[in-house]
Amino acid sequence: MQTSTRGGLLLERSLSAVWHPCTQMKHHEWLPLVPVARGAGCWLYDFDGRRFLDAVSSWWVNLFGHCNPRINAALGDQLGKLEHVLLAGFSHEPVVELSERLARATGGALGHCFYASDGASAVEIALKMSFHCWRNRGRPGKTRFVSLAGSYHGETLGALAVTDLRLFKDTYAPLIMASSQVASPDWRLAEKGESARDYAVRCAAGLERHLERHGGETAALIVEPLVQGATGMAMHDAEYLRRAREICDRHDVHFIADEIMTGFGRTGTFFAYEQAGITPDFLCLSKGITGGYLPLSVVMTRDAVYQAFYDDDVTRGFLHSHSYTGNALACRAALATLDIFDEDRVIEANRARCARIGAASRRIAQHSRVKNFRNTGMIWAFEVETADVSFARHFFAQALERELLLRPLGSTVYFMPPYIITDAEIELLAVRTVAILDALPA
Ligand SMILES: Cc1ncc(COP(=O)(O)O)c(C=O)c1O
Repeated sequence: MQTSTRGGLLLERSLSAVWHPCTQMKHHEWLPLVPVARGAGCWLYDFDGRRFLDAVSSWWVNLFGHCNPRINAALGDQLGKLEHVLLAGFSHEPVVELSERLARATGGALGHCFYASDGASAVEIALKMSFHCWRNRGRPGKTRFVSLAGSYHGETLGALAVTDLRLFKDTYAPLIMASSQVASPDWRLAEKGESARDYAVRCAAGLERHLERHGGETAALIVEPLVQGATGMAMHDAEYLRRAREICDRHDVHFIADEIMTGFGRTGTFFAYEQAGITPDFLCLSKGITGGYLPLSVVMTRDAVYQAFYDDDVTRGFLHSHSYTGNALACRAALATLDIFDEDRVIEANRARCARIGAASRRIAQHSRVKNFRNTGMIWAFEVETADVSFARHFFAQALERELLLRPLGSTVYFMPPYIITDAEIELLAVRTVAILDALPA
C-alpha cells in the first residue's frame, strides 16, 4: 500500500521506536503498518484520506465511534476540574458516581468496585481477591483456579495462568502457576445431533466432576460468559452459566465472570451473565467501559466478599494498587458512556441493528467457503475453509485494500462493530466481505 511522505515517515519512525503489541515485528517487512491520522464515527483515516471501517471496534473497545462528541465534551469538562488523584486516602466525584451506577447495573448485588487500568490487571485482582477472601475465612488451601479450554483472560503472568491459548502461553510455561481447564461448552464441539444446550449441560457435568475431586483446593472458576473471544468467538448456551453457578455454590468455589469483552451490551444484554439469570461473585470489566477512550478496568464484588477483608488487621485488607487506579478522566469517560446507554436506549436499539446486520450477512453465511456462521448480540463470526497457514494476515491485508479493518483469529473472521454503525456501513461491510471471500485463492 502506498503512503504519503507524512504517513510513510511516521511508519518508519514507528517501526524503529515502537514495539507493537501481539506482533512478530519482522512481518512488517511485507505487511505495512497503517498510519492513522484521525478517527470519526466508525472510520479511521490515514494521512492520504484513505479510510478504514473499524469493524472490530479497535480490539473490542469502541462502542460509540471514534471522537464521539458527547464523550469528548465530558472529557473536556473533566480536564478543567481534575485529571487524576491517587485513590488511596482520597476520592473524587467521577469514581464515586461510576461505582454507584455500575452497582445499580448489577441490581445492587455487586456493590464494591476495585479499579485498575487494563483487563489483565482486573483478572489478576479477581484471582488475588478470591484466594485472599478464602484465606481470610480460614481456608488457605484454596489456591487453585479453573478455567474453560480455549479461554483467554489476558497476558500478565497471573492472567496467563488461567488463559488456555498455547500461542500466548507455551513460551512462558516455566513462569506460570498451574491451573486446571475443563471442557468448553463451545457449541461447535457438540456431537452430531446434540443441541448447544445439551452440550452445555454435558460440559457442566464435567465441571461438577472436576470440583467433586478438586473443590477443596479450588478458589474460583473464571469464565468468559456466552462468548470466548480470543480463541475464535466460541459461543455457548447460557444454560452452562446457570449450571456452573449452582455447581460453584455446591462446592464453595467463587464464580468470576470475565466480561472484559462481553460487558456493556456486546452480547445483547448489558452484562452477558444476565442471560443466565445468575450473578457472579466477581465481575471483571474493561474495554467498552470508557467507550474505547481511556484504559480503565474494574472488579466488582459482593458485600460478603468485602466483609471478609474488613478488619483491624492490615494484612487482612486487600493491599493491591496501581498508580492510575480510578483515574478521574477515565471514570468521566465511563460516565459519559453510561449516559449514552441511557439516553439512546442502546440495548433496545442494538436489537434492531443486530437484525439488520444479520440480514445483510446472509450472503456471507451462505458462502461456499464459510462454516459455522454464528451470532450473539453485536458479535458475528464464521470460519473460512482455507489451507493458507497465514490466512489471518492475508485476509487482514485484503480487507484493508477494501477499506475494512478486520483481523481474523486464525481462520475465524468476526465482526464486532461500534454500536453506531449505519445501514450504509453495514451494507458496505457485508458486500466487501463477500468480495474478499470470492477472491480467496482456491
Ligand atoms: C475476556 C478477556 N479478558 C481479559 C482480556 C485482557 O484485557 P487487556 O488486553 O486489557 O489486558 C481480554 C482482552 O482481549 C479479554 O478479551
